[in-house]
Amino acid sequence: MRHLALLLLVVTSSKNFASPITETSSKLLWSTLISVFEVNTPGLRDPLISAALDSYENFALDENSEASKGDQYYQSQILGDKNRNNKVFSQNSAFEQLKEETMATAFAHVLKEFFNEQPSRAQLGGIFCWATVGGGGEQPTWHSPHTHQNSVLSAVYYAAVPDDGSGAPITFSDPRGPWTNLKHSHQPVNNTIVVFPSWLEHFIPPTNSPQYRISYSCNLPGSFKTTTDLNIEL
Ligand SMILES: *[C@@H]1O[C@H](CO)[C@@H](O)[C@H](O)[C@H]1NC(C)=O
Repeated sequence: MRHLALLLLVVTSSKNFASPITETSSKLLWSTLISVFEVNTPGLRDPLISAALDSYENFALDENSEASKGDQYYQSQILGDKNRNNKVFSQNSAFEQLKEETMATAFAHVLKEFFNEQPSRAQLGGIFCWATVGGGGEQPTWHSPHTHQNSVLSAVYYAAVPDDGSGAPITFSDPRGPWTNLKHSHQPVNNTIVVFPSWLEHFIPPTNSPQYRISYSCNLPGSFKTTTDLNIEL
């Protein structure tokens, strides 16, 4: 009862006296949007798992190369690419659907909803995707911290994530700079997509699961500026 009386007093008095301040504006600067979507398209996941595994088992691995198997697999997909077409999956309908329908819809939604932007047709047509395979009992490889230049938004579709708890979370670095030393770790879930600004530094810790970890990453081409609060460029 005493609390209620006190509360009433506070509420009443704030009505009677002018506030000592007037808010004119507030901004959340350098906030970072991470969006997660479930994929509803039936029958998309299985062919994407098979396509990644087939190509991963069959690409020409250079045993003498310094590059890891994962890096070489990535290189095999972008080899000679000038038109943002993935050589390995160009004939695969599930891959095309993932890129042109699922990812294009997710990117357009995030841009429109949160950045008040409409992606152009050319931008959507320029979405570039590639598969990554980890785990499977192979030598764990480390995807060191990186950003995606000349892109607005990046996304990852998780086709298969190990269920033994070793499914290597995608880990985002605090964009306010290395001095905060804070990270955000996102645990992937089968048949979901995570979308984030391409300027956000991220890495994937090594997966040492005997199960495969299969994902498809995509970039929407454009400028970092679209998804930041910056209003000057130095
Ligand atoms: C994800 O899918 C794969 C392949 O179908 C399956 O082996 C695995 O158990 C699933 N992961 C989880 C966490 O349910």
